Amino acid sequence: MTDPNELKVEALLDIINSSARKAMAEYKSTKHGVPSVDADTLHPLDLATDTLALRKAIRLLEGACEQLNTILAPPQHTVYNFVNNYNWACIDVAVQSRIADVLDRHPEGLSVDVLADAVNLDKTKVARVLRGLALRGCFKEVKRDVFANTRLSLVLKATNNVRFFIEIQREFPRYATVLYETMVDQEFARSDKLERAPRAFALRKEGKKNGFWDMDDEARDIFHKAMMGYSEILNFSAVLHYYPWDNVSSVVDVGSGTGAMSIPLAKMFPHLRITNQELPETIMLSRNTWEKNAPEMLLDGRIEFVPLNFLEESPVVGKDVYYLRSIIHNWPDEESKVILRNVRKAMGPNSRVLIHDCVLSRAFGEPDVGASESCKDHKALEPTLLNFGSHIPHQMGMIMWFLYNGKKRTLKEFKDIGASAGLVLTQTYDLVGTMLLEFAIAQD
Ligand SMILES: C[S@@+](CC[C@H](N)C(=O)[O-])C[C@H]1O[C@@H](n2cnc3c(N)ncnc32)[C@H](O)[C@@H]1O
Repeated sequence: MTDPNELKVEALLDIINSSARKAMAEYKSTKHGVPSVDADTLHPLDLATDTLALRKAIRLLEGACEQLNTILAPPQHTVYNFVNNYNWACIDVAVQSRIADVLDRHPEGLSVDVLADAVNLDKTKVARVLRGLALRGCFKEVKRDVFANTRLSLVLKATNNVRFFIEIQREFPRYATVLYETMVDQEFARSDKLERAPRAFALRKEGKKNGFWDMDDEARDIFHKAMMGYSEILNFSAVLHYYPWDNVSSVVDVGSGTGAMSIPLAKMFPHLRITNQELPETIMLSRNTWEKNAPEMLLDGRIEFVPLNFLEESPVVGKDVYYLRSIIHNWPDEESKVILRNVRKAMGPNSRVLIHDCVLSRAFGEPDVGASESCKDHKALEPTLLNFGSHIPHQMGMIMWFLYNGKKRTLKEFKDIGASAGLVLTQTYDLVGTMLLEFAIAQD
């Protein structure tokens, strides 16, 4: 066989085979085996934080499966699939009406009549929603018109943080639908200012105007629970296992939210002194969250809460690590540089900045940007997978654009904004969903 196109398909099949086997081996190593599509409980690996090997395998599997489909399916089929997807609306119905919570009390399944009564919706419409999702393994129809939860639908339960991340996405389609309008509007088209983001455009059309961070207490609470869900989706907690925290004494969580990262960090590394820095309204919520989830940590004074507006002032000075998780992606380049310059001013000679975020990969590689050995898997295999490592980051990057004219960035873009603040990239950690980028003060 010499047809190069055929060889590429064969290579993709090999990637699918080897990565699926690798993923199976990871599940089997837990002694709980490989999950089934209609499993009605979570697998222990679903909640584990150190699942890098599994996630690396899934990254390859997903990329290769999609690419194989793109090659072998008619283009009109694939392109229409891009837009013909309302799973999000069905998930929204399930989340809003708490269907997964009701089904959780009936593991053997519940008739749609009883279920629809319990959530006060029309039974035929509930069945349509659930059947659509069941096609993708989220809920299952165990007998005609009898539905039960699956491993996927359990994630939608009211107590699950991921469900809050889904909840805050409800408003995004409104901003997505004006994207083209913003790109041809005289005032918005060439601006990357925060106040010229698609969200601002859509709100203006509706006669409203409020900054994204001007949230009331209830919205703020939901947003920060959503951040915990976001953490689980992208497995940010891998950083607990792969950064050498034992060599660090003090950490500032810059824009800490309510502690989605700093609480697990404090629990896993009790020697660390941690300063949470945030806008004043959030810092109060943060302290409450710590009091609820980790009260014992607050007793010996090693955890601090210090208000900060990082656009106007620097964080506390001279700490070992300044950790910025999902901060820079919220801001256009100019503001990102201001934030990093303010952090730079607080650093001592041995301080490090850790930017923890998604990193975009591009089809055409960038010149060497100092990626470390731990990062080599982040480069796509041959044949280059079109979406390798980029699917979630790319979609999240669109959200950042809609909301704030922010963006997900490539390694080179991070390196450049770091350089503008006097920082140099010293180390990168490929944590699959995200990367951890370590910067030090640049020596002139
Ligand atoms: C996407 S959230 C990330 C929060 C947290 N790092 C996490 O990963 O859960 C961005 C955070 O930036 C905070 N923020 C926004 N503007 C800020 C400012 N000017 N100064 C300090 N924090 C700010 C928000 O309150 C929010 O908690």
